[in-house]
Amino acid sequence: MVGPYIIRRCETADLPTVMDINMLTLPEHYSDYFFESILSELPESFIVAELYSKVVGYIMCKIEFGFSNFRKLGFVKKGHVVSVAVLNEHRNQGLGNALMIEGINGVIARNTDEIYLEVRISNTAAVRMYERLGFQIKSRLRTYYRDGEDAYLMALEFA
Ligand SMILES: CC(C)(COP(=O)(O)OP(=O)(O)OC[C@H]1O[C@@H](n2cnc3c(N)ncnc32)[C@H](O)[C@@H]1OP(=O)(O)O)[C@@H](O)C(=O)NCCC(=O)NCCS
Repeated sequence: MVGPYIIRRCETADLPTVMDINMLTLPEHYSDYFFESILSELPESFIVAELYSKVVGYIMCKIEFGFSNFRKLGFVKKGHVVSVAVLNEHRNQGLGNALMIEGINGVIARNTDEIYLEVRISNTAAVRMYERLGFQIKSRLRTYYRDGEDAYLMALEFA
């Protein structure tokens, strides 16, 4: 990563900027309450990238219970990357990667063995980033998005 970027936990005061970044970078948006509840439920995985006191990227994750993506029997506790984004002018400098690593570490600290996410099949930059972090494409979710695009379900099992 280049430049004096800081990777730190999100604070309540950062949420309006995080919501702005979400609006600018992704078609999937959420209510204020959703952002607030994710921050209070898993603050160690709600991370922002900051440059000169300006938030330029974020990741937010959840802990869920559900079927394993790695053939473990029964329900497991697992992480879910809900949303990750970096403002266009700050991309390709390692921020996405740094945010993912911090978010994943927060999920690992909650005694989970795996994490998963959904990503548009056309989103090459994000798919590559996830693959470089060790995520595997586990399935294709047909017409997952409102506009009809399919998603890849990608998952990472912790060592
Ligand atoms: C996906 C996103 C978060 C990546 O952020 P970033 O800060 O540019 O990512 P990084 O600089 O850390 O790059 C990490 C890896 O992603 C891949 N990558 C990033 N941008 C890429 C691009 N335009 N094309 C191909 N691969 C790309 C590379 O493998 C890169 O690793 P490398 O530099 O070692 O080769 C950013 O593109 C973004 O905010 N996109 C819009 C929001 C979005 O799509 N979020 C994901 C929703 S599931």
